[in-house]
Amino acid sequence: MHISDTHITPLGRFLSDVYDAMVEKINEERADLIIHSGDVTDYGFLQEYKLARDRLAEFELEPLVIPGNHDYRNLGHTLYPEFIGETHTVMEVEDLGIIAIDTSVPDLNEGRLGRTGQTHLMSGLREFQELIKVVVLHHHLVPVPEAGRERNLIDDAGDVLKIICENGADLVLCGHRHVPNAIKVENTVIVNAGTLSSVKTRGYHGNSYNLLEITEKRIRVKVIRYLDGNFDVEMEKEYKRMDSP
Ligand SMILES: [Fe+2]
Ligand SMILES: [Fe+2]
Repeated sequence: MHISDTHITPLGRFLSDVYDAMVEKINEERADLIIHSGDVTDYGFLQEYKLARDRLAEFELEPLVIPGNHDYRNLGHTLYPEFIGETHTVMEVEDLGIIAIDTSVPDLNEGRLGRTGQTHLMSGLREFQELIKVVVLHHHLVPVPEAGRERNLIDDAGDVLKIICENGADLVLCGHRHVPNAIKVENTVIVNAGTLSSVKTRGYHGNSYNLLEITEKRIRVKVIRYLDGNFDVEMEKEYKRMDSP
């Protein structure tokens, strides 16, 4: 399960009812793993972090979370480790090798991996050579259709894309643009999640999360949309994995 951009805040731009419906639906799905690709809070305020810690605990399965640019506003980067946890995660979950890298910089909207992040990414992908390799970043790696004027694409997107393609990443999960999308570049499926519970949606995209079915042979991406009190499947795509018959 891939969720993103919850933008949790007591200040009004967080759709608490939508979040409740999403948590209930996601808990029903009994996922093996929930990944949150950042912007947990709206402004990085202390009161938001306190609320976010409680709200994230409503998931029956603890989500793997990385920070987004909004989490690092207003000194939020000093609160994130205390209230949410690790900012980088490298872990194996069954046959998945997960490499989640923090792309955010305090008080900036732009994101980057930089040389340190690129090194982590490269060594993670090499370490997990035998596994299905999943990379998680907050900022988007390729432009997202229907997301407006292009901005905040990862600063070093070209170099990161090269590392990802050359080292055979199977899947990249991003957030930030609040519009869901899936596209394949060489052998890598790059997926963007919409916003789970922010008021800041675009057109009829509504709020959404992504349901991913990953097997040795295929990656299936389903965008589950919540709009006007109803759930539906906004998009469904299936990709063959490299070398699979
Ligand atoms: Fe966001
Ligand atoms: Fe963001």
